[in-house]
Amino acid sequence: MSRNDDIQRMAELIKQLDYHSHKYYVENNPDISDFEFDALLRELQALEERYPEAADPNSPTRRVGSDLTTEFESVEHRYPMQSLSNTYSSEELGEWIERITREIGGEVEFVCELKFDGTAISLCYEGGTLSRAVTRGDGRRGDDVTNNVRTIGSVPMRLRGDDYPALFEIRGEIIMPYASFDRLNREREAAGEPLLANPRNAAAGTLKQQSSQVVAHRGLDCTLYHLAGDELPYATHYDNLMAARRWGFKISDNIRICRTRAEIEAFIAYWDTERKSLPYATDGVVIKVNSYAHQRQLGSTAKAPRWAVAYKFQAEKALTRLLSVDFQVGRTGAITPVANLDPVLLAGTTVKRASLHNAEQIALLDIRLGDMVYVEKGGEIIPKITGVELSERPSNSVPFEYITHCPECGSELIRYEGEAKHYCPNVSSCPPQIIGRIEHFVRRKAMDIEGLGGETIELLWQNGLIHDISDIYHLDPVRLAALPRLGEKSAANILEGVRASLNVPFERVLFALGIRFVGETTAKYLAAHFRTLDAIAAATKEQLSEAEEVGAKIADAIVEYFASEDNRRIVESLREAGLRFESEDKQLTSNALEGKNVVISGKFEGLSRDDMKALVEEHGGRNLAAVSANVDFIVAGDNMGPAKRQKAEKLGIKILNYEEFMTLVAEGEKVVEPKRPKPATEEPKPKQETTPIQGTLF
Ligand code: IVH
Repeated sequence: MSRNDDIQRMAELIKQLDYHSHKYYVENNPDISDFEFDALLRELQALEERYPEAADPNSPTRRVGSDLTTEFESVEHRYPMQSLSNTYSSEELGEWIERITREIGGEVEFVCELKFDGTAISLCYEGGTLSRAVTRGDGRRGDDVTNNVRTIGSVPMRLRGDDYPALFEIRGEIIMPYASFDRLNREREAAGEPLLANPRNAAAGTLKQQSSQVVAHRGLDCTLYHLAGDELPYATHYDNLMAARRWGFKISDNIRICRTRAEIEAFIAYWDTERKSLPYATDGVVIKVNSYAHQRQLGSTAKAPRWAVAYKFQAEKALTRLLSVDFQVGRTGAITPVANLDPVLLAGTTVKRASLHNAEQIALLDIRLGDMVYVEKGGEIIPKITGVELSERPSNSVPFEYITHCPECGSELIRYEGEAKHYCPNVSSCPPQIIGRIEHFVRRKAMDIEGLGGETIELLWQNGLIHDISDIYHLDPVRLAALPRLGEKSAANILEGVRASLNVPFERVLFALGIRFVGETTAKYLAAHFRTLDAIAAATKEQLSEAEEVGAKIADAIVEYFASEDNRRIVESLREAGLRFESEDKQLTSNALEGKNVVISGKFEGLSRDDMKALVEEHGGRNLAAVSANVDFIVAGDNMGPAKRQKAEKLGIKILNYEEFMTLVAEGEKVVEPKRPKPATEEPKPKQETTPIQGTLF
């Protein structure tokens, strides 16, 4: 076969594979077997390997993904991606319909569609081929996720027919059908990984996976519902959607043109029940004005079009029997009651367990064993019990008695003031607390130690190799390798992961310590504010509360953490091991604000408060959340609260307006030497002289 023949064959194979992908993923009606499909795909793959220069970037072989890490480039949307205004009631919907009809001044045609619960995507087609796929992002800019989207079978890489515009965008939802979602969570459970909360999070998370090969295996789907472009062929939304279906896109079958409020309400009522039998999640109905001329007439607000509205369904409920209650002990000792239920189908999945939150909640709802209870699915993975069907209560039922002792170690439970949960106080020897803390410590977002999953940690703990997080850095390689089910390779892996974790930045180390209430974000703020672990450990409650996002509750928890001798010993051991206990010095733009504590208050035109805070830090200052005697000055934008202003005046704190603040930092920039690359040797940095402007303003 000549090269020409081969290249011709490649084009033929692409055509056939495109056709069969459409049959399979869009029409759900394949006419060849998976085996035959794979044979065609492999033939094309082999040819592309032979003639890489002739391979099409939109080849069906791209659907299997690659294991190259993708960096997502932030790109601007050609047309901004708006969101929708919501309504939850039939009255509001009626008002909306009336308003639209009044403004248009005559008959209006509406299109009713399902509201898919996934993550929005904008696909750009140029010359009939997929050129770009971008996430919604902030509506103006999103992430370019084209390589990942190519792996989704129902997204056409090449369009059919010849009446599509040369350039247009089509928008829709990337969804994870329940079947894929359940399979994924089963796999994650088996691997000891945390479960994904719902198909929406799973779809969004998958789309941002760095390896498109992983995306290809996750079973995503894509349904389209909106076109944008300057040369769309028809004058109505509906006709363009139907054209898009002919071009090969997956367009929902459940779209209706409605002309009256009654027709719209009937569509909603029908789908409120019927959606339960759909294989994917929906959370409402979207009602859109059909005619583009009418849409233009109605226009948009800054956030959403006036010509569309989303009617949201009530969360789905199911009624089932409460069989028993388990009590879980978390890493902080918090006790969580979990209900075991008679299995029941809810929003596409079978529910066997539900959260009961705490003793108060159980008492408030008077939930008793044997009751028929209502379960609802919110955004969380575990559904919650929201009420009891009293008419079905067994006659011999008795009020629920909450436990008084830890189910794991037998210690008497305690309550903290203002907290609804019970806690097991046996921090140092209650097994699930110890193991939970270690599991938290090695998590990806914390120290990210590979090879140490839940089971391995338990194994290490049971064999006496670790008692607390610091032991991870003193593991004996020989004893480790000798553990059952481990072996030398896994042991070496773990040790390598442990070594690598020494480079984890301070803010994540702080998060990893597992101080109560100190989550990822709080840890970041604390690290930025105090710079070192020693400064945090030495800070008083008042000083701690000065850091952004740190309130009395968190401050108390931090003080309590460092008051414990056990914790101080662990911290010292971690320090010896070489963990980072200090923030890396950021390259400052100037040190105009060195040593200054600043409060940003009110609104600023063109800059968000976070931008303003970043400016303070870039110039060497610290952001404080509240006005106190420690504040050097306040930058006041529009609408600064009167209480704050009064307090500042009382304390004699200077208030700068935006211009004064910008002059201050701009002057600072001038006196700082231009940035130079860091010298190879670690020279101590010369301390900057106080800038003249500081002398004038303070
Ligand atoms: S139309 C300019 N139609 O819901 C209007 N959106 O809560 C563009 N969504 O951002 C959106 N199903 O991600 C439209 N049939 C549907 C939809 C839908 C789901 C999503 C979309 C939107 C969000 C707003």
